[in-house]
Amino acid sequence: MNKILTELNDRRAIARLGGGQRRIDAQHAKGKLTARERIELLLDEGSFEEFDMFKTHRCVEFGMDQQHIPGDGVVTGWGTINGRMVYVFSQDFTVFGGSLSETHAQKICKIQEMALQNGAPIIGLNDSGGARIQEGVDSLAGYAEVFQNNIMASGVVPQISVIMGPCAGGAVYSPAITDFIFMVKDSSYMFVTGPDVVKTVTNEVVTAEELGGASTHTKKSSVADGAFENDVEALTEVRRLVDFLPLNNRDKAPRRPFFDDPARVDASLDTLIPDNPNQPYDMKELILKLADEGDFYEIQEDFAKNILTGFVRLEGSTVGVVANQPTVLAGCLDIDSSRKAARFVRFCDAFEIPILTLVDVPGFLPGTSQEYGGVIKHGAKLLFAYGEATVPKVTVITRKAYGGAYDVMASKHLRGDFNYAWPSAEIAVMGAKGATEIIHRADLGDADKIAQHTKDYEDRFATPFVAAERGFIDEVIMPQSTRRRVCRAFASLRNKNLKNLWKKHDNIPL
Ligand code: HXC
Repeated sequence: MNKILTELNDRRAIARLGGGQRRIDAQHAKGKLTARERIELLLDEGSFEEFDMFKTHRCVEFGMDQQHIPGDGVVTGWGTINGRMVYVFSQDFTVFGGSLSETHAQKICKIQEMALQNGAPIIGLNDSGGARIQEGVDSLAGYAEVFQNNIMASGVVPQISVIMGPCAGGAVYSPAITDFIFMVKDSSYMFVTGPDVVKTVTNEVVTAEELGGASTHTKKSSVADGAFENDVEALTEVRRLVDFLPLNNRDKAPRRPFFDDPARVDASLDTLIPDNPNQPYDMKELILKLADEGDFYEIQEDFAKNILTGFVRLEGSTVGVVANQPTVLAGCLDIDSSRKAARFVRFCDAFEIPILTLVDVPGFLPGTSQEYGGVIKHGAKLLFAYGEATVPKVTVITRKAYGGAYDVMASKHLRGDFNYAWPSAEIAVMGAKGATEIIHRADLGDADKIAQHTKDYEDRFATPFVAAERGFIDEVIMPQSTRRRVCRAFASLRNKNLKNLWKKHDNIPL
């Protein structure tokens, strides 16, 4: 018996060494942790249970029959994050560059299927040279099976990808299907075709970092939802995100202890809106003042900054926040912000996370680049996402809510449950100046008359009261009491039961 126990221990020690100490040292020299070190940081101490530690590939081409490393380049299993179950795979760059073989894919598929069966999130730590070149089509088949499982899991369990090294070619499509992608600055990159192919085909000279580094994907392409300084920070932040999320689409997000009085009044909010309606203010300040303990987990912080998206807790329960940001493009909706917010709203709705919408939007951004870029279709994504969402929806209009953007931003007409406005709200078809110039075109030459018409329009329409008279606004509230009103609103909606008509699936304007 002792001999067998020793053999098990020896085999485990070999598997844990992956591609060997030389390659582990090389990984560390690049500032990267190993696959196992990452899992240790991600999960609660001692909670990891591994699957398939001894699984090896079956390839015999190119001398591969002489090279078997137990585990085959990916460490898989489950564990807990603050006591809640998650499944994880972590690609081991020290083993054949973390490349994906038939067996490597089977290991990922196994934990994907278990996560689906048992209703727990899947976290993928990606660090891979792509398809195992020696395996050819077997590797491609393996990728496609992983993709298919990603698709089946979408909207059923949260899927989070962390890119911690290379992720190139078709390998990018598994993360792309998942709910959130995070990258590590300077050590990770994602692209469909690398710099060499780009040079050959388009004659562009670009570095891997420029083409697909964390900065590119968080600021330009919006492929990634966040970038972190190093492996440790990335894994810590993933733990923080998981704490906001339910384990699956039938589970409620965890309710955490809170120390912040839900009835807390914040007098500073009464002066948040500047006297001049064209002067910006920072909407993030409002979010931080509403949230329990001022804790806001922002998603896509560096992209389409004219809209803010992220998670907060109110009375300990997770709430998704979507908010126009007047400091950027005056808070206008445009292509990028519509896409960003629509995807976030759909994530929240898929996982029963209530949505708080904070509105200060002067309209959709005008211009040829927006129209040629299809702002109609992209704006419709956000409209569609809000309209189909059945989760509790509470909206607060702080200042401007003009035109189509008023409708889009979780208005009463899109089944908003509580639609509040501050006294400073201006709800109208358009701004007073533009409206006057159209309605009173004949007076355009007379500055005094135009000024008077503009003032009349402002007095009549640049207020929340016309909408409140119609019942489109449920109540005009004091800014200082917003946290209390919003907390009570969500508390009253805890048993909300709204279902859309049966359909195979919708046809959102993609
Ligand atoms: C097999 C691979 C590999 C791969 C790397 N290795 N990529 N083995 N298949 N795809 C091995 C190397 O041989 C090396 O083995 C070890 O991993 C580390 O690689 P290095 O090149 O020394 O590391 P580094 O200099 O850091 O460069 C990393 C790299 C580079 C940029 C990822 O290895 C590379 O370009 N690899 C090939 C990438 C690629 O073309 N993949 C296929 C993409 S197409 P030793 O024994 O020396 O340690 C694709 C299609 C998927 O993925 C389609 C899905 C639908």
